[in-house]
Formats: sequence, structure tokens, C-alpha cells
Amino acid sequence: MAYKIAVVGATGNVGREMLNVLVERQFPASEVVALASTSSVGTEVSFGDGVLKVRALDYYDFKDTDICLMSAGGAVAKQWAPKIAAAGCVVIDNSSAFRMDRQVPLVVPEVNAEALSDMPKGIVANPNCSTAQLVVALKPLHDLATIKRVVVSTYQSVSGAGREAMDELFRQTRAVFVADPVEVVKFPKQIAFNVIPHIDTFLDSGFTKEEWKMMVETQKILDPDIQLTATCVRVPVFVGHSEAVAIEFEKPITAEAARAALRAAPGVLVVDKREDGGYVTPMECAGEDATYVSRIRKDPTVENGLMLWIVADNLRKGAALNAVQIAECLVNRKLLRAA
Ligand SMILES: NC(=O)c1ccc[n+]([C@@H]2O[C@H](COP(=O)([O-])OP(=O)(O)OC[C@H]3O[C@@H](n4cnc5c(N)ncnc54)[C@H](OP(=O)(O)O)[C@@H]3O)[C@@H](O)[C@H]2O)c1
Repeated sequence: MAYKIAVVGATGNVGREMLNVLVERQFPASEVVALASTSSVGTEVSFGDGVLKVRALDYYDFKDTDICLMSAGGAVAKQWAPKIAAAGCVVIDNSSAFRMDRQVPLVVPEVNAEALSDMPKGIVANPNCSTAQLVVALKPLHDLATIKRVVVSTYQSVSGAGREAMDELFRQTRAVFVADPVEVVKFPKQIAFNVIPHIDTFLDSGFTKEEWKMMVETQKILDPDIQLTATCVRVPVFVGHSEAVAIEFEKPITAEAARAALRAAPGVLVVDKREDGGYVTPMECAGEDATYVSRIRKDPTVENGLMLWIVADNLRKGAALNAVQIAECLVNRKLLRAA
């Protein structure tokens, strides 16, 4: 059996990666259609050894398409996902538009694939990139010793903010080197040679929406009893999000037991040598599928505490790979017709 797939946002950072991942994982596709805004009609995107001509979402009929992988932002998702689902095509959406909707499962396959059995709207949400890699690493530890509280600081790459954000880091870096004026457009302050403790909009609580998303999405995916607090920071890295994480558990847990549980967990690779370079940095995880865990150590300031360093490619596990893994689960569990 093969399935007709539409990729909405195919010219974007995540959409292009979705096309790569579909090819790499040999997804059983009878046809793949690349869709974007009307301004991209006729442009070409790479697909395996060939190219796909981009078509307009506005004029595409979804009635014989099985799965729509959508990564075109919240406004497009809100307008289009319900209509696409009503045409009988399951939507896997990368934006935040439906993540906290009780009738939409929010899924990271290594953690809560079973949530896919209940998708009354025909829409599945993909989590925020920082949440996806975090819960992949938290899950085996939660199973082992029950997580009470998590404190996370993120170091998020500019690709998480889209194509234009990557261009801005490139332009600013060049401008600094050739002593041109630095233009700030996409980020609130200069990102080249800087870090910015601000991602998405500010809420009344003083947290940013990115930080809030990490809190509520972790609870929805993993366990509503987990307390999580976050500081989300943009750093001048092109691809790959890093996270410094402190975890407090109900039960005692050693660094050795945590390392063994993480080694056995799906989607996780442990690289944790206590020597120069014995850990993973974002540069090494770009283009990779795994969520890497390093620097696993006891936190001596709390009764049952651990600290670790988590790195993953935000365009892959944080977005495109996770979405394709969800599509694979839908196929393997024969959930497409049911939806
Ligand atoms: N980047 C990440 O790490 C990451 C992780 C998780 C989730 N996400 C989410 O994924 C989505 C896309 O992110 P991105 O980084 O790929 O952004 P991007 O590089 O800016 O790409 C945006 C894509 O959306 C398309 N688009 C915009 N308006 C459209 C419209 N009216 N109709 C059809 N297509 C339209 C664009 O097409 P044109 O080229 O024609 O304008 C482009 O293909 C966002 O919701 C983002 O929050 C991103």
C-alpha cells in the first residue's frame, strides 16, 4: 500500500527537510506533492535525485491525498487544517495552532504514540522543537524514577525561526567582518556574536510564549504532574538546539542508572565521556536523527537530582523527522482510514 502525501510549506526550512526525510526513510508514498504560497508557484524543490514543481496550496484539491505534512505557520494551519481534514486527508501540523487543543493529539512517537488512536479532528500536532528533543530524553528517566520538576535553559539555533532568520545571522556576521552597518530585522536585537533571552512573545507572567509552550507541551505529552520551568535563549548557531537541564525525581536515581536507561531508549544516543570533547555540540548533531545526551551527572543540591545536556537537530527531530515518524505510526497502526 502506498500513500499520496502533500507537504505544505515545501519551500521552507522544515518543509524541505520533510522532503529529505521522506526520501531517506523510504516512506511508502505513491506521490509527493510540494505546496507553498502562490508566490512560489513553479519554483522547484529537491526531492531525492529529482525535483518537484511547487504548486499553490490555495488551488490544491486534497480529496485523494492521504496525509498532509504541514509547516507553514499557525495562521495557515488554522485556516487550512480543518478544511483539509474534512476532505479526508489527515493533517500533521508543525505550528502551535492546535497543540493544546484537547481533541488534537500532540505526539512524539518515542513517548506517546498511543495518543494517535484518538484524533477526532483528523489533525495531529507536532510539538515545539525544544519540547520534542526534551521529552525524548525525559521519558526513560521518568519511567525509572518519576520526574517531579525540571529546570531547563535552552540554546536555540536561528533555523528554528525560519529561512529569513538564518539569512539574518549570515548577513549580520558578514556585516561585522567587513565593518558594514548591522541591520536588525527578524530578531529583537543583533543575533550575530550575541545571545538573546527572548523567543516568541512576552506573556503577563513574565515568561515568553516559547517558555510556556515547553511547560504545557511537556505536561500534555509526558505527564500533567511534571512541573517545568524554562528560560529560552536564541544563540548564533545555524542548526541544532541545545538544552541544559536539571531534573528532580520522586525516587533515588544514580547517574549510572540514568545513563543505562538513556542508552536503551529509542531515539537517544548517549555521548558522555568526562574528558575534552566527550560530549555533543549542535554542529555535530546537524543532519542527524538522534537526540544526543551528554554531561549526565548527579545534582548535589537536591535530594534526587540529575543534570544533563541535550542536543538535537531542530529541523529534524524538532520538526520534519518527528512529523514523518508520526505519519509512519499512522500507516503502521492502520489509523488512516479510521481517521
Ligand atoms: N524551524 C523549526 O525548527 C521548527 C520546529 C518546529 C516547528 N516549526 C514550525 O514549522 C512552521 C514552518 O517553519 P519554517 O522554519 O519551515 O518556516 P520558513 O522557512 O519561514 O517557511 C515557511 C513556509 O510556509 C509557506 N507559507 C507561508 N505562507 C503560506 C501560505 N499562505 N500558503 C501556503 N504556504 C505558505 C512558505 O511558502 P513560500 O516560500 O511560498 O512563502 C514556506 O514554504 C512554523 O509553524 C514553525 O513554527 C518550525
